[in-house]
Amino acid sequence: MSPEQSVERTLVVLKPDAVQRGISGEILARFERRGLRIAALRLLRVDRAMAEKHYAVHKGKFFYDDLVSVISSSPVVAMVLEGPNAIAVVRAMVGATRPHEAAPGTIRGDFALVGLRNLVHASDASDTARTEIALWFPSGVVEYTRDVERWMTEDQA
Ligand code: CMP
Repeated sequence: MSPEQSVERTLVVLKPDAVQRGISGEILARFERRGLRIAALRLLRVDRAMAEKHYAVHKGKFFYDDLVSVISSSPVVAMVLEGPNAIAVVRAMVGATRPHEAAPGTIRGDFALVGLRNLVHASDASDTARTEIALWFPSGVVEYTRDVERWMTEDQA
């Protein structure tokens, strides 16, 4: 496997708006179709303490309180996805933070319109991904491979 294919893990949270609108399965299907492997998955209600930990890097920003309120308002679907360059691939699939700026074809560009109703959280870097995965999945992830993997890498033609 070449360096540009390094396998990464990333945390993805389908926020309350995704679950309430009944599109969490549709969003998850996009990640699966892209080839990403689900390493962990849970539906949960986030309490305020957990929300504050998750958004700790944004503490002090004008939108912090709203972020914490929104993510703890209703259940979310959290998952760990893995695959070559998973962090960047997922961020590109999710689209620009502000839904009105998200390109068509991205999740936000296809399903979201405004502000904090941006449907998905995805880790933005490898150190953040590690911290977030440990917070959301303290008992770890599930390690396995799929037969299809060999059809999605370049080194096993
Ligand atoms: P999320 O990926 O959950 O993580 C950080 C969140 O902060 C992001 O989604 C946005 O919802 C929110 N955010 C980031 N920048 C801004 C901003 N300038 N104004 C309002 N919300 C923001």
